[in-house]
Amino acid sequence: MTTQPTDRQSFTVSAPVRLWEEGFARDPHGYYAALRAQGPVGWAELAPGVPAYVVTDRRAALDVLRDAETFSHDPRAWEATVPDDSPVLAMMRWRPNALFSDGGAHVRYRTTLIDVFDLVEPHDLRARVHRAVRLLVNRFGPRGEADLVTEFTRPLMALIFNNLFGLPDSQGDRLNEGLGKMMEGGAQSAEGEAEYTEYVLRLIAAKAERRGDDLPSRLLDHPAGLTPEEVTWQVFLTLGAGYEPTANLLSNALSRILGNPAYYSTLTSGARPVTDAVLEVLHHETPLANYGIYYARRPVSFHGVWVRAAVPVVVSFGAVGLFAEREPAEGRHPADASHLSWGAGPHACPVRQQTLLLVTEAIEQLTQWLPDLDPVVSRERLSWRPGPFHRSLTSLPVRFSPRSPDQPGELS
Ligand code: HEM
Repeated sequence: MTTQPTDRQSFTVSAPVRLWEEGFARDPHGYYAALRAQGPVGWAELAPGVPAYVVTDRRAALDVLRDAETFSHDPRAWEATVPDDSPVLAMMRWRPNALFSDGGAHVRYRTTLIDVFDLVEPHDLRARVHRAVRLLVNRFGPRGEADLVTEFTRPLMALIFNNLFGLPDSQGDRLNEGLGKMMEGGAQSAEGEAEYTEYVLRLIAAKAERRGDDLPSRLLDHPAGLTPEEVTWQVFLTLGAGYEPTANLLSNALSRILGNPAYYSTLTSGARPVTDAVLEVLHHETPLANYGIYYARRPVSFHGVWVRAAVPVVVSFGAVGLFAEREPAEGRHPADASHLSWGAGPHACPVRQQTLLLVTEAIEQLTQWLPDLDPVVSRERLSWRPGPFHRSLTSLPVRFSPRSPDQPGELS
């Protein structure tokens, strides 16, 4: 809940928790505990010299997410305060799309995205997942070993999303590299942003010239009348929002399943369905850990903290999920004891159902093709990519009984 401050409250802060440090990827729970020790709203750095308020309490998070009068999603006032070479700019700078808009502009953009995704029928999405899983398993299956991150989850998303967005399979590596560097928010983020922007610009130029049966073409023809530039930035958002977090949701869920005999031994019997593992990820290592970024429109006293305008207020879905589960649900509505990994309020993820279908289908398919996946490294020894925004595995090596390609000639 927000109140207008009547006098100048001072927010005496502890040392900012450095979410850009390497240690954050190794031990996010420790960093979240340090933030939580400061109260519902903690003080952190997203990059050296880039401060942010971080909300770790579920109630306070909902108060940010649902109060569009106090909190804006438009970063432009903040952007004016950071150096041009800040490594987090690639992920946080304003673009004319749903994520960075408020009010009428937001509704217009969001409606077009919901409309075009609604046209993707579940059976169609399922078929695209099956095709992509089979293609990849045929590639690495004969070896009897693979890295499920670099050879399965990331290329899988590239195949599925390029397919939905009207690009050939062969473009997957370019998508993977550009977006991957951008998402880490480190030294290579500007390079990644340039590569990914070029990727999307080329795609829209091609679709503007010649329509296909794909999402960008449907956006170009949507009755809302988006300009090609506006379509470019909606695609920039959706292809990125879809690819990176979904690959991470899938990798994190697979690592939990493989690391826990209780899951793995019962996968085929359905006693602990795949959705349980996905739910566990959404609580414990949600992929978009710290990417609900808002800005107070004016200085405001918020859950005991004096929040300045034009300073990021980061809703930590990672911390909220973790602490919401530990807190007793007594006296609260059961729904209040859950994670907020899909966000809430006007900007909540518009394609949650499709994402869940995609991820569960991919896990079921993979484990049907390769029923004896065996992790080479224990879960505790797995390494995670750096970056303040995400929870993303570097690799997930496995062994399994080799299998020959089901349909020779289909390998590409
Ligand atoms: C098919 C895959 C996905 C697509 C296409 C997608 C697309 C989007 C888009 C377009 C938005 C912005 C909506 C708006 O501003 O009105 C959004 C928001 C969001 N998405 Fe997704 N998303 C996908 C998967 C995921 C996954 C796997 C997660 C994490 C579990 C996730 C979590 C979120 C969250 C938390 C927000 C709100 C962020 C905020 O409050 O600022 N999404 N998503």
